[in-house]
Amino acid sequence: MNIALLGFGVVCSGVYEILKTLPEYNVTKILIRNPAKKTMDCMTLDFADIENDKAIDLVVEAIGGLHPAREYILASLNAKKHVVTANKAVVAAYFEEFVAAAKENGVKFMVEATSGGGIPWIKNLQRVGRIDDVTSLHGIMNGTSNFILSAMTSEGKDFDDVLKAAQELGYAEADPSADIDGDDVRNKCAISASIAFGCPVDVNSILQSGIRYITKADIDWFKENGLVCKLFATAKREGDKFDAVVEPVLLCCDTVEANVPKNYNITCLYGETIGEVKLYGQGAGGLPTGNAIVQDIIDINTGNAFDISFDKTLIKTEAVTGRYYLRIPAGIDCYKDILRDVIEKEEASENSTVVITKEVTPAKIHQLTDKEKSVFIARFV
Ligand code: HSE
Repeated sequence: MNIALLGFGVVCSGVYEILKTLPEYNVTKILIRNPAKKTMDCMTLDFADIENDKAIDLVVEAIGGLHPAREYILASLNAKKHVVTANKAVVAAYFEEFVAAAKENGVKFMVEATSGGGIPWIKNLQRVGRIDDVTSLHGIMNGTSNFILSAMTSEGKDFDDVLKAAQELGYAEADPSADIDGDDVRNKCAISASIAFGCPVDVNSILQSGIRYITKADIDWFKENGLVCKLFATAKREGDKFDAVVEPVLLCCDTVEANVPKNYNITCLYGETIGEVKLYGQGAGGLPTGNAIVQDIIDINTGNAFDISFDKTLIKTEAVTGRYYLRIPAGIDCYKDILRDVIEKEEASENSTVVITKEVTPAKIHQLTDKEKSVFIARFV
């Protein structure tokens, strides 16, 4: 099988290393952006060299971002080449379009590497879906934010110091906002829920809140109460309705999810006959993510790739609810009005007030966080 790589950063370098060990698979072209990095004859600066090369069977896309990734993926599919991608942002934004283009051209479009890195998550969602309706999924799907939360919890460190360490270790995206504000998890949540529920889930419909404003005071409060904070993607399906949300959650300290360390990920699903499934592993990094891409390539080559099918139409509802912890910095008083009727407990201190709410929908809480970004929230699960 002849393969072209779009990009030669962390992920495609991992793919290249793994493919070198598999003689049936040849990397015949690599698209790079920077002429100074042209270290192999097969490297090209021009995507047309790949698009027009009839000998290329499959294109791996890992350049990241929306454009020109979208155009390259569509052009490759329209040139009757299979596409395997690790680019969660472009898939979350244009999933339906890519699936339709692949179908039209009789080729495969595969996304295992977009969500959960090396964890065989997407394929297992599809396998479970052959028997069960997946009625819920959740997980820790961002290594950087888990690294930060774990280090703050176990080493008592401050947010900024730990973020710097995560950047130095290469876990964080170039702009770590996507990691700490939840955008990265939201993309993975949309992709996972789309596969699980057989319906393209609009990424913009997913409410999102991150960990940018968590403080040592929050971590201390959680510890005193036997709780651990993690950034979760959560999606639920009830008949022809679904809900999805990305936000920090508070877990009892003895749960599996609470004990996911460092930059690891965990992805969990529930199906009626299989019950609960939890998959744990490396959610990022060149070799784990490269491994997920190569698994997709082998599945395509051996006729074992599942088709992605969006045969259901689901309506967004408010199925996720919970009690919330909020830390509201001093001077923000609008919470009294917005959360009126749902406040269960208030603990005021010099710089902030901790509020615990009754069971509410995320939308209620996000009314406040949309207005006052520095309010940190976490849902009890
Ligand atoms: N920045 C991402 C993470 C990379 O930290 O999980 C993998 O998607």
